[in-house]
Amino acid sequence: MSDTITLPAPADFHVHVRQGAMCELVTPHVAAGGVRTAYVMPNLVPPLTKTEAVLEYKKELERIAPNVEWLMTLYLHPEVTPDEIRKAAKAGVSGVKSYPRGVTTNSSSGIEDYGVYYPVFEAMEEEGMVLNLHGEVPSDDEKNISVLNAEKHFLEHLRKLAADFPNLRIVLEHATTAEAVECVASLGPNVACSITAHHLWLTIDTVAPQPHHFCKPLAKEPRDRKALQGAVRSGNPKFFMGSDSAPHPSASKMPSISEAGELHSCAAGCYTSPYLIPLVATLLESFGALDKLQGFVSDNGRAFYKIPAKAGEEVVIRRPAVAVKVPSKLEGHGNEVVPFWAGRELGWEIVN
Ligand code: NCD
Ligand code: ZN
Repeated sequence: MSDTITLPAPADFHVHVRQGAMCELVTPHVAAGGVRTAYVMPNLVPPLTKTEAVLEYKKELERIAPNVEWLMTLYLHPEVTPDEIRKAAKAGVSGVKSYPRGVTTNSSSGIEDYGVYYPVFEAMEEEGMVLNLHGEVPSDDEKNISVLNAEKHFLEHLRKLAADFPNLRIVLEHATTAEAVECVASLGPNVACSITAHHLWLTIDTVAPQPHHFCKPLAKEPRDRKALQGAVRSGNPKFFMGSDSAPHPSASKMPSISEAGELHSCAAGCYTSPYLIPLVATLLESFGALDKLQGFVSDNGRAFYKIPAKAGEEVVIRRPAVAVKVPSKLEGHGNEVVPFWAGRELGWEIVN
């Protein structure tokens, strides 16, 4: 493989760019990481449940980073009616993200029953909008459901939705299990799957002792990571990059003690935006899939979403002459974020 690779307009099909001061800090990092098109998550406070709010947010992102194509989503919620879907589609909103209630950051307004949203899914199918699924069911002691098996239990919902809406494009977001990879591969062409950079590297052994590796869904066993790497190596176009880059202030990643002496839990999310394409190239090369890099970061997701790469938006990467390390923190606008892979060396760097 050569020492320089030209990628047609890389696209990140799952990214969190937050709001307020954090948004000012992290939004420019998307382009810096080599991404030209970004599919933005709606789990703000309050969540984006109205077309107007989505458009206002998009304007803000365009102000901060006009060099990125921002693709927007609504947060699935009772306020998202079939009429709202038609309005959103007309306004150019690309998809709707479903968060099961309580499973991750800002998901307390999430859903409990997919059945009640069937009229919404029908409208989305008609309008050509994409349904993005956070694929975990809430924990339930009686049913022995926990963060360890929440994704496997979700797959029955995915199979049912895929069967009931064969013309609705559905993405299982940030898959973490061998079972999810098998399930997506077995379903029809309307179902695809995003894979993060961090899940191609982490397993539960490296998550357990390190809050900066804590994200939802949790990284699972070595066999699961192997299946995710295998999905990328296979070149199957159903699998593409969605970084789930999810910045949190560094203090909220550390367990802290309240004034009353209680321990707070740490926030879920890994932050990869600022060096995403070099990181993904480094990881793919480590498991023999560098020849699938273009498919994974540029072609596959764009084909599924029907968002062709624009000429002139290529990103060139090369092997660095001098070692490049991921910084131990990124600071600005009164915020500090510790990135994933802090202090580790990257095998690739962006040229342009
Ligand atoms: C995300 C966040 O912080 O917004 N966290 C995460 O662990 N992935 C939410 C999400 O995508 O689940
Ligand atoms: Zn996410």
